[in-house]
Parts: sequence; C-alpha cells; structure tokens
Amino acid sequence: MIKPDGVQRGLVGEVIKRFEQRGYKLVGLKMLNVERSLAEKHYADLSEKPFFGALVDYICSGPVVAMVWEGRNIVLTGRKMIGATNPQASEPGTIRGDYAIEVGRNVIHGSDSVENAQKEIALWFGENLAEWTPAAKPWIYE
Ligand code: TYD
Repeated sequence: MIKPDGVQRGLVGEVIKRFEQRGYKLVGLKMLNVERSLAEKHYADLSEKPFFGALVDYICSGPVVAMVWEGRNIVLTGRKMIGATNPQASEPGTIRGDYAIEVGRNVIHGSDSVENAQKEIALWFGENLAEWTPAAKPWIYE
C-alpha cells in the first residue's frame, strides 16, 4: 500500500514501476480514503504502541493506493525492495531508502508474512482480485 505521503509526493508510478519491472504481477489496485476503523484493524497488532494514534491519523490523512502483487517469494522480495521500517536504516536502492527520511512518513506498507498478506488482502480487497496470465510469464520464470 502506498501511504498518503507517497500519494501526495507523486510516487505511485515509481512504486508500481519497480514491482512491474522486477517481474511481479499486479492483481489488485485501488485508491481510497481510509476509514479509521479499517486503519485500526489493519494495524491492530500495534494498538498498544505509543505511536498507534499518530499512525492511524497518518494513514487516514489522505488517499492511499492499495495493491496486491503476485509472484515467487513476493512477500520476502517485496519487503527487501521496500527497505527497513525506519528509512534511516533502509539501504539506498530500496523504496524507503530512496524516498523517505522518517519512520512516521515511510511512503509504503508491505505485508510481512504470507499469513498477514492473506489477512490484509481479505481486509482491503475481499474477493476482488483479477485473474490473468501475463504474456511475459515464460520470460520471467524458468
Ligand atoms: P511495523 O509493522 O513495525 O513496520 P513495517 O511497516 O515495516 O511492517 O510498523 C508499522 C508502521 O508503524 C511503520 O511502517 C511506521 C509506523 N511506526 C512508527 O510510526 N514509529 C515506530 O517507532 C515504528 C516501529 C513504526
């Protein structure tokens, strides 16, 4: 998910470009203003953290772009492409390492496990995912 700062800064295309160019397949995409209840559910495991209120305010502060990407090891590779939670620790070349400075404005969210990805897809998209086979598939996978 491209967070409100990423949308406001015009980084939607840049993020999509990186995942597409890597070879991943886009199966879900929508822009929305996030209801507080959705942000709270999405970050429920952080509800006891001192930054929870500010985090929910931030996610609800402007439109986000929610996406579902598919492909081999997408969770692990996607997290590598996104970089460390705190952009100060994110390597240059990663999305946060190239475009962010502060943890509370780190441009993008990525699911951190397959189990959480499944939960987040259900929460954000329900069943509304595209089914399609990219023509380039045999040129990306052996
Ligand atoms: P977390 O799930 O730990 O990281 P990630 O987004 O890399 O999976 O935290 C969720 C978000 O909470 C994180 O992207 C930014 C915010 N956050 C803060 O604002 N302050 C903090 O100290 C931490 C750890 C996270």
